[in-house]
Amino acid sequence: MTTVDDASRRLGRRDFLGRVAIGAGGVAVGALATSALVDGDARARQRPEATEAARATFVGEHQPGIASAQPRHLVLAAFDLAHDGTATGARDTFRDLMRGWTAVGEAVMSGGALPAGPATRPGMRSDPAIATGLDPAGTTMTIGFGSTLFATLDVAAKAPTRLRELPAFAGDDLDPAQSAGDLIVQLCGDDAQVLSHAFRAVRTQGPGRATLRWTQFGFLSAAAGETPRNLLGQKDGTANAAPGTAGFDDVVWSTADEPDWFAGGTYLVFRKIRLDLPGWDLTGAAEQDAATGRHIASGAPLSGGSEHSPLDLDARASNGELLIPATSHVRLVHGIPMFRRSYNYDYGFVSGRSAHSPHEHDDASHDHPGPQSGHARFDAGTLFLSYQRDPAVFVDAQTRLATTDALNRFLLHTASGVYAVPPGIRSGAYVGEGLLT
Ligand code: HEM
Repeated sequence: MTTVDDASRRLGRRDFLGRVAIGAGGVAVGALATSALVDGDARARQRPEATEAARATFVGEHQPGIASAQPRHLVLAAFDLAHDGTATGARDTFRDLMRGWTAVGEAVMSGGALPAGPATRPGMRSDPAIATGLDPAGTTMTIGFGSTLFATLDVAAKAPTRLRELPAFAGDDLDPAQSAGDLIVQLCGDDAQVLSHAFRAVRTQGPGRATLRWTQFGFLSAAAGETPRNLLGQKDGTANAAPGTAGFDDVVWSTADEPDWFAGGTYLVFRKIRLDLPGWDLTGAAEQDAATGRHIASGAPLSGGSEHSPLDLDARASNGELLIPATSHVRLVHGIPMFRRSYNYDYGFVSGRSAHSPHEHDDASHDHPGPQSGHARFDAGTLFLSYQRDPAVFVDAQTRLATTDALNRFLLHTASGVYAVPPGIRSGAYVGEGLLT
């Protein structure tokens, strides 16, 4: 049986405290619920970890939003740097943007005053006031750089050595307009209104410096001490190393041979994966479990035990068949060192003809299984986010999955990106400063 203490150890103490608060209060808030339950000094004394989680900052070895507890909402936005075609001009713009975003991040994570943007003129408000009086609710901001940024800045010699575009994978149906980008901003938090405010503040730094390329919005929720479930109902994240452990550090943070300024950095891979929810719902429970390699209800491996029992890949049924089937998702990628920090998305019915619905049917009676069915205009699934010290790890995993995974008939990868995520900063610096100094 899983005890509260086991769960605490696995999730990391800080994450656990936040989630216990959710369970105990029965309200839709995360780490910040803890702070709301007790006041002032008492709060600091009783819940030091939770208070720390609630007030993230860029200062430190790593950026926030990676090892920290995963809050309930996600805003993911990619931008392209505005530039005049010269590397010097691009560097000036980049510096201004990163100074602005660093100040925005510090403000939205602490609940402080927002900095003015480049288009703010005397008499204008630099803060739209939509989060006035609201707690930061565990908001974190994380910034990453796409390979195109390093080319534009002409700093190839300082580029993180493992950053390269992902290859095309079998079955991909990627929309370039929803993929890549010079810069990515990941905002996570427990209050959707506060997050909207944070995203607005990020955009306020944009005029003349960067243009918005694409956005995604995600959500995630779990019962106290439980692994969150994706929209297939699967517990998703069971095999993740727990933040704060040596195992996590090995999987996530950059290796010693990277450029000095990148020490404490990592790489982020993003995939937007549409799920065929009607197709899944019309599939038998045993078939769903077999495609996963785990029992959907408990998260336990099909080889036996409970959610966190080790997988026995050799275990066979009395008829000789593998208990964890050869084409099951977990068998194909078991042990691959990445930290998955994905969110669910549900955009509902997408009006108009989507580039990612290769064909559609006006006649509802003509339907067939798979994401390309008449249901293709219903866009819901996973915003897959993985952090790892080398994106080649993702390439290895996805290469194995792309042709063989039994889950594939329910999945469609529609957008993609890979980014170098610089380390945290010393006080007074801006994110990515080491790249230009
Ligand atoms: C929407 C698509 C996906 C779904 C629904 C899904 C679902 C799952 C589930 C249910 C598990 C088992 C529980 C766990 O350990 O978290 C799992 C494990 C895992 N998945 Fe996925 N996954 C998806 C996409 C991917 C992709 C694109 C990759 C990487 C290319 C990936 C890599 C992994 C890895 C490395 C594990 C841990 C395996 C282990 O060590 O046992 N998954 N996934």
